[in-house]
Amino acid sequence: MIIRKSAEDIEKMRAAGKVVAVVLEELSELVVSGMTTGELDRIAESAIRRHGAIPSFKGYRGYPAATCISLNEEVVHGIPGDRRLEDGDIVGIDLGVILDGWQGDSALTLPVGSVSSQAGHLMETTQQALYAGIAAVRAGVRIGDVGHAIQQYAEKHGFSVVRDLVGHGIGRNMHEEPQVPNFGKPGRGPLLEVGATLAIEPMLNAGGYQVDTLADGWTMIARDRSLSAHFEHTVAVTEHGADILTLRTGERI
Ligand code: MF3
Ligand code: CO
Repeated sequence: MIIRKSAEDIEKMRAAGKVVAVVLEELSELVVSGMTTGELDRIAESAIRRHGAIPSFKGYRGYPAATCISLNEEVVHGIPGDRRLEDGDIVGIDLGVILDGWQGDSALTLPVGSVSSQAGHLMETTQQALYAGIAAVRAGVRIGDVGHAIQQYAEKHGFSVVRDLVGHGIGRNMHEEPQVPNFGKPGRGPLLEVGATLAIEPMLNAGGYQVDTLADGWTMIARDRSLSAHFEHTVAVTEHGADILTLRTGERI
């Protein structure tokens, strides 16, 4: 069952989403080669708490950090630690908070210094694939319409869409129904009605779509070790389109 939110509920989710957006903006400005992923995570956690929110990832199924930080061939769920960012890396930062009982969840992928043109193209395409999915959202469409829009955009640009991980409904819980695959067929899957709230999160690989889990039990990597990028927004479904609850300052869709 998809839990539809009232206008008041959505305003509370917008407040949570704003914290996520502001913290991601702050982290984006700090990313520099030489710093460790653990340093980024500690800054994120203190910023989240400074805004009166709680990091939703920390303790979730035993996850040890406030953020997931995934480098290069890592797809998602990288655990922050002693690894240092290097010039030419691409770094995915995924962040979730709980504010006043409501969740926000968003992610982006950034370049460290100057990156290869392939890496740049992959990041840009992944962000635009997220926007293509968001553009497909409005009351009356089905989940397959959203996944199809993402997949079409990604594959047209020569990248593959990860299948084993999907987006999700979100609200008082980080993960609610429905699942939001980044692939699909038009007109298939659950119907989206006004008040549904979704975390849409395409993960694109430069090579094949297959992934593996590292021995830490969390980090997902591209099986062929090709580059991978991830972008995510929390959105609310309205009559006329998607209301993006985690939009960052200066982000234009
Ligand atoms: N954005 C991810 C998700 O929606 C983050 C969860 S990571 C975890 O599933 F650490 F919380 F598990
Ligand atoms: Co998510």
